[in-house]
Amino acid sequence: MDSIVIEGGHPLNGEIQISGAKNSAIKLQAVCLLTDKKIVLKNMPRLRDTRFMGQLLAHMGVEVEEGPGPQMSLHAKSLSSTTAPYDLVRKMRATFNVLGPLLARTGKAKVSLPGGCAIGARPVDLHLKAIEALGAHITLDEGYVIADAKDGLRGAEITFPFISVGATEHSILTAVLAKGTTVLSNVAREPEIVDLAECLNAMGAKISGAGRSEIEIEGVKSLGGVTHNVVPDRIEAGTYALAAATAGGKVTLTNLRHDHLGSLWPLIAQAGANVELKKDRVIISRNGDGLRAVDMETQAYPGFPTDLQAQFMAMMTLADGVSIIRENIFENRFMHCPELSRMGANITVTGREAIVRGVKSLRGAPVMATDLRASASLINAGLAAKGSTTVGRVYHLDRGFEHIEIKLGQCGAKIKRVSE
Ligand code: EPZ
Repeated sequence: MDSIVIEGGHPLNGEIQISGAKNSAIKLQAVCLLTDKKIVLKNMPRLRDTRFMGQLLAHMGVEVEEGPGPQMSLHAKSLSSTTAPYDLVRKMRATFNVLGPLLARTGKAKVSLPGGCAIGARPVDLHLKAIEALGAHITLDEGYVIADAKDGLRGAEITFPFISVGATEHSILTAVLAKGTTVLSNVAREPEIVDLAECLNAMGAKISGAGRSEIEIEGVKSLGGVTHNVVPDRIEAGTYALAAATAGGKVTLTNLRHDHLGSLWPLIAQAGANVELKKDRVIISRNGDGLRAVDMETQAYPGFPTDLQAQFMAMMTLADGVSIIRENIFENRFMHCPELSRMGANITVTGREAIVRGVKSLRGAPVMATDLRASASLINAGLAAKGSTTVGRVYHLDRGFEHIEIKLGQCGAKIKRVSE
């Protein structure tokens, strides 16, 4: 199994080009099930998760072609299977999102329940309630959701009891071909949802309100093909911005939408790094000045993203003062704390809050994390720490960060991938 080894204590200097967003790309891949025309996704990140989704779609008879460059073509001329087996769904929860498109296209689907994961129980009850409201009949059997909509799906008014990114996206994917109008209220407003709606609208869907709390979908009879650019990955961008602020130096980020990280920039600036927002780039620099403690809590977009909480905490371990970090989205997303503590951080976790008392320096250590973003926080901590850090279980990083060691290496980080 691969590890990443970092000799810390070197500032980062250089430019990093941000890839397309993983969390948009994997939902956009599912879009291909809604049409017999070809869809081409450009600015497509090359990641384990997009490959998993490609494998599942290929299992269903979709022609999947990677390249040239950051591009993936998907063509579901006809489907050979409407089952998403456990072995493919357990590798990545978001594969569950094929349920709605399969139902919309064929009137039936059998999809394994995804199960819990390291950051929490993560049920899919809101997804299922919405799909039922759209006219599907759902039964659960031996870990599978079996859904049918023999008489077709029909529009519905659905109000979510709380905000869910996945349930919002899944409802859109299910409702675009339903008969009549669907109104989704109290929905997630993430840029990835806007990206999904823009792609579907370019195919002929009639979705309005994406990016706001209420979305209206007028069902259409069929969808055409499309060539669509995946939105830049705001979490990848935020991770490298925090890496530069944590380790020091000057890093320019390109191919990003800085307006998608409006909750992050003021906090990085308050913590003592310099943030320059330009039209097509962001420059983060910190040279010599110490970091200051800042409190933070995660919230649904446009609030501070839970997917940057661990990386923000890595920065706060070195700040002057005490930072209180509250995780409001997932119940178990502090697994990076014991690992950061092994590097010398002073963190106390009580329920949903972590109290981070800044220390003068971190020291390298062998560490490993149980999820993607936690692994990224250990990389950021390793870049700033004195000595050598070995981050194990690199497959987590490969799920969501394209060439992390190359991108950071180009900025002068002493970082390498080691195969055992
Ligand atoms: C998406 O997960 C992202 N994943 C997550 O990124 C991200 O952390 C999360 O949104 C929040 O921004 C993908 O896009 C693939 P939710 P999702 O539904 O859709 C509860 C990463 O590292 N809930 O908004 O699963 C749920 O348990 C990942 O890239 C229900 O109770 O998130 C959670 O506590 C990790 N019932 C909360 O809602 C449901 O039916 C928000 O989850 C659905 C969700």
